[in-house]
Amino acid sequence: MLSEVLLVSAPGKVILHGEHAVVHGKVALAVALNLRTFLVLRPQSNGKVSLNLPNVGIKQVWDVATLQLLDTGFLEQGDVPAPTLEQLEKLKKVAGLPRDCVGNEGLSLLAFLYLYLAICRKQRTLPSLDIMVWSELPPGAGLGSSAAYSVCVAAALLTACEEVTNPLKDRGSIGSWPEEDLKSINKWAYEGERVIHGNPSGVDNSVSTWGGALRYQQGKMSSLKRLPALQILLTNTKVPRSTKALVAGVRSRLIKFPEIMAPLLTSIDAISLECERVLGEMAAAPVPEQYLVLELMDMNQHHLNALGVGHASLDQLCQVTAAHGLHSKLTGAGGGGCGITLLKPGLERAKVEAAKQALTGCGFDCWETSIGAPGVSMHSATSIEDPVRQALGL
Ligand code: MEV
Repeated sequence: MLSEVLLVSAPGKVILHGEHAVVHGKVALAVALNLRTFLVLRPQSNGKVSLNLPNVGIKQVWDVATLQLLDTGFLEQGDVPAPTLEQLEKLKKVAGLPRDCVGNEGLSLLAFLYLYLAICRKQRTLPSLDIMVWSELPPGAGLGSSAAYSVCVAAALLTACEEVTNPLKDRGSIGSWPEEDLKSINKWAYEGERVIHGNPSGVDNSVSTWGGALRYQQGKMSSLKRLPALQILLTNTKVPRSTKALVAGVRSRLIKFPEIMAPLLTSIDAISLECERVLGEMAAAPVPEQYLVLELMDMNQHHLNALGVGHASLDQLCQVTAAHGLHSKLTGAGGGGCGITLLKPGLERAKVEAAKQALTGCGFDCWETSIGAPGVSMHSATSIEDPVRQALGL
């Protein structure tokens, strides 16, 4: 067990195309955002494990001795043991959560307890730790905040337990893990995501682990090597929603109307593939006609509405940006949350500013950001910016 303080960060994501369709085996194109979640792990010797999530006002402390007595059975299971319903029931009791707990805050505690007990299962005694997680990402807005959380927790615990290497050992102020270690972090993070979301596709934790831009399909991913320098306008409608419920809603529509819904998923797949092709061309030799691809945003948004994951606030967002000649769609699970608007290079500043003002006037938060941030990283305390250091009490 390492005795040093660890500082880990992982990015949020936006899905350009393919949300929901990816749950049913289709392609998704996802990019890492330069908004990150940070985790600081401090080894202790007070017999306690504490988890502090200041963004959502949660601080929970458990006695290591009580956790040690829990007969979870993780040790007897395979490499990355997926938690059974019975194990989760036990953990809910320890976390003091109701059996029908559905809120993301409670489920984040549960995911932490699972990752802590399952990753540290091989230690002779469970470690005493103080963990704080702080995020630049708005929670529950479709920007992958829960995936960034699971990736940070998995990376920090695996490193502390020496199950993966410490990328800062002997060098540098920021580092990432070798490919095999990233695979392990991603597998554990996926299991954490499953505790929170039920049956996610795995795209969110993958892009948070590897960063950059990914094409993802059925657990297989490849990095998009060349990306044009696209800016994104991100708009948060601030309408809360549950990814789990939205994914379940699409599944029941698919069961109810298979012949109507399946072609929509096939069409979304074709949109993702066309977008991937044009993004590659744009990066190699940009010509103005390629920006016709932005129309794909409008088409996909209509499909997502037909899947039942739209919301009046998202319609309003799309109408407002369309009135300024821009193309938008929801990103992530929909039902509220965030929308993205792609901004082509050379767009008049006045147009973007006018769109932002109109969106803010609707009560939305919006900000411009670039895409393709680095994946999960380990930092030295001096390598991060002052506001983050302050938020983490470093
Ligand atoms: C959520 O960010 C993306 C969805 O496709 C769910 C998933 O892929 O697990 C809606």
